[in-house]
Amino acid sequence: MNDNVPVITLDGPSGVGKGTIAWHLATRLGWHLLDSGALYRLLALAAEQQHIALDDVAALTQMAAELDVCFRTGDEACPVYPLLDGQVVGDEMRNENCGNRASQIARYPEVRSALLDLQHGFVSLPGLVADGRDMGTVVFPHAALKIFLSASPEERARRRYKQLRHKGISASLARLSREIVERDERDRNRAVAPLVPAADAIDIDTTSIDIDGVLARVMAVVQQRGL
Ligand code: DC
Repeated sequence: MNDNVPVITLDGPSGVGKGTIAWHLATRLGWHLLDSGALYRLLALAAEQQHIALDDVAALTQMAAELDVCFRTGDEACPVYPLLDGQVVGDEMRNENCGNRASQIARYPEVRSALLDLQHGFVSLPGLVADGRDMGTVVFPHAALKIFLSASPEERARRRYKQLRHKGISASLARLSREIVERDERDRNRAVAPLVPAADAIDIDTTSIDIDGVLARVMAVVQQRGL
């Protein structure tokens, strides 16, 4: 990994708006984008297609080590399009079922380690914006700027609901709320790389701030740091 390339990490729980903020930030700066959650989602999808059980750690680890993925930057509604083996992946990777399966796979340290080199490979000039759960704590501990976004579970469920409806994916708000709380629990309490802010991260509670407000705060720090 090239240590001279600046990295900005954006971590936080499900539905907090990391992907949208990361896209705006990368677009404004003209930097590359890594949607690390997509890697776990792609594994979940591939496991389903290949009938691999979600606790078959050996098979999942091998799949993670061989994952051939690159990203195309999209638009605000769909910040990144992953290409798996050169093929565009359908919207099924964005549904809640896939997110929940991804979170189950993400518990295994072997799988996480197998994805490290792949994630480091996204670092290239002029810079990288990386979003996920452990970008600032584990994957890019020397990042130039670390942001941790939070928002109440109710607000995140509402945002997710709007986002899914906008994409024409049907959803139930009550079910989304339940799943968000469950996913938070799992992501926060796992033994490796749990969802926690890095000690040197800047925390932004976005519950009552809109995207422009969050972006303005992040951009102010970006400028302060001369990035
Ligand atoms: O950000 P997302 O909702 O697309 O992520 C899906 C799941 O993948 C999330 O619930 C936990 C896991 N994940 C992770 O463990 N580490 C990351 N850096 C990103 C996602």
